[in-house]
Amino acid sequence: MLRCNMASEPLFTPWKRSTSGVLDTPAWAARARQDQEQSEERVSVDERAILERPTRLFKYIADRTEWGHRALGRLSRRGSITIEVDGEPVREISPRELVFEGDVVRVEGRAVAGARPGASDHWVLNKPEDVISTASDTRDRPDLAPWLERIGPRAFPVGRLDRETTGLLLMIDDGDLAYMLLHPDFHARKRYVLTITGDVSPEDSRLVMMLEGVDIGAKGGVLARAESAAVFERGPERSIVHVELTEGRKRQVRRMCRHVRFRLEHLHRDRFGPVHLGDVAPGELRRLGEGEIDALWGCVGGRAVPGERADAALVRHAAFLRERDEPNARLESWLTARGLWGE
Ligand code: URA
Repeated sequence: MLRCNMASEPLFTPWKRSTSGVLDTPAWAARARQDQEQSEERVSVDERAILERPTRLFKYIADRTEWGHRALGRLSRRGSITIEVDGEPVREISPRELVFEGDVVRVEGRAVAGARPGASDHWVLNKPEDVISTASDTRDRPDLAPWLERIGPRAFPVGRLDRETTGLLLMIDDGDLAYMLLHPDFHARKRYVLTITGDVSPEDSRLVMMLEGVDIGAKGGVLARAESAAVFERGPERSIVHVELTEGRKRQVRRMCRHVRFRLEHLHRDRFGPVHLGDVAPGELRRLGEGEIDALWGCVGGRAVPGERADAALVRHAAFLRERDEPNARLESWLTARGLWGE
């Protein structure tokens, strides 16, 4: 049997805060420690990478620990990150290093847990006014930290709402899903509720302008366009207009309103793709149900999409390395075995 030294310290564990505020130890980490006590000579299964496909080294570590990419860059330059393939350390780690199923990765000598913790945190927050949509504001203004602390350290906001804008902010711990929800190619619609001064009729030419696209000063003159724009309520003093966007440029709705000369009194988001804010009060959180998570995936093409995109990226990466005369034999044979490489 292969032997590899057990790290004397516990595996890195992406810690989770329990509702009591005490740190929970994942069951598999407790099991690993038990194994360690029982036998010093065993290879710890928990240390070996469990992966569907080869994954970039920094992403592999960042998905399983609290290390960020920048810190990992520093550690890697100092030689503090190692990979073992079949028990043998890889001599030189390149910035393009990939981790394969079964490899063991160590940071400063401590093994990174092989399994990725389950991505299970999906929440909506009704963001109150005057809160900055960031985990930690550099100017010490009210930010999302109090809510992120309640949810857990792996969750992050999907996009932003301006400080003055209220409403639905998704906070999840799944980078693939967040990327697709924000990328206009995947067409996830976000619905905004605009409170506008004065009467807006359904035939108002300013709504038509928003649908046709307005120049908000974006690079290359690319127009900002609403997918839909409809009057929800109207009156002589103020009107409520619903606008849907698939894009998410900075202050896009506000800039579009300024351009068409709508006087915007308030902006609120009440829907993101299939997820409705519902009756969540300002400042409150609601955990999404399984059905809503499935629907979010459905609106960006399904759960298989990130895998297909990742496979395509690996093929491009292998081709790139070949062009540079640095073929990665391990990667090519992984791709070949899945019919993704060669004829
Ligand atoms: N568009 C804006 O102008 N502000 C937001 O917060 C969101 C969309």
